[in-house]
Amino acid sequence: MIKKAVIPAAGLGTRFLPATKAQPKEMLPIIDTPVIQYVVQECVDSGIEDILIISGKGKRSIEDHFDRNIELESKIQEKEDEEIYMHMKHIENMANIHFIRQKELNGLGDAIYHARFHCGSEPFAVLLGDTIIDSVIPVTQQLIDTFEQYKQTVIAVETVPKDKVSRYGIVGGDKISDKLMQLNELIEKPEASKAPSNLAIAGRYILTPEIFQALENTPRGKGNEIQLTDALKLLLKRENMIAQTIEGKRHDIGNKLDFLKTTIEFALKRKEFSSPLRKFLEDILKNGKK
Ligand code: UTP
Repeated sequence: MIKKAVIPAAGLGTRFLPATKAQPKEMLPIIDTPVIQYVVQECVDSGIEDILIISGKGKRSIEDHFDRNIELESKIQEKEDEEIYMHMKHIENMANIHFIRQKELNGLGDAIYHARFHCGSEPFAVLLGDTIIDSVIPVTQQLIDTFEQYKQTVIAVETVPKDKVSRYGIVGGDKISDKLMQLNELIEKPEASKAPSNLAIAGRYILTPEIFQALENTPRGKGNEIQLTDALKLLLKRENMIAQTIEGKRHDIGNKLDFLKTTIEFALKRKEFSSPLRKFLEDILKNGKK
């Protein structure tokens, strides 16, 4: 049983400046809901209610978002807006959320290392705090199901165009089934000619506690940071690991164009926005009209 999840959310978000100068990218809203709330919801929908968020400088608003706001609650009660009131109560009761601060930004691997005392000797899920995956079955649930069967580290992957592999962590290995691959290679941002496949790591993992020792022995890599992919590569020498092609669509909110596309896609799915937004988009695309 996977009972705990870790959400790294301490990064600087330099790709989204200036919006992220004084606010966390994980709090950027897709319509009216911060990115990290979608990520926490994915944990909850996958049966995980103990969540450790790796926070840091300038990330206070994440903590406030999942806390109770009594002043706002009474204001909403006065206005008798039952729907938004229920939504507010839902957010503060979603899960048991803990926070730990990553004081120096030494990379994703270092962020995960901060979870060692919280996770102890249990396997746990990792969900990047700036990545939403839209799917019918929550992707973390998909990975948990595989972990339950194989009892091995499970890494979510997705197919990316061959010419874009140098932007991602790429995996290689032997096919187990349509969705699963037994890993024998992991490589961070390879040149296209050296990539073992076009399957890119997709921001969701089930890790075993052995990752912490691997992280201790992982030297600084790309960007002078401790890379989670490098630690996994080290661990792969001693442990079997599986890559699982996700059923779902990944949205990397740390990237401005992805953020825009996600906002439009999600808004088109909301019944209050769907038809006026569709009409607006059709008009501007056809005639440049608003
Ligand atoms: P990214 O590499 O996308 O985050 O890490 P970043 O460093 O903030 O991005 P840019 O390139 O500067 O725009 C993926 C996730 O890991 C967290 C980030 O907050 C993000 O949710 N992270 C990254 C940490 O918690 N600590 C780190 O040291 C680095």
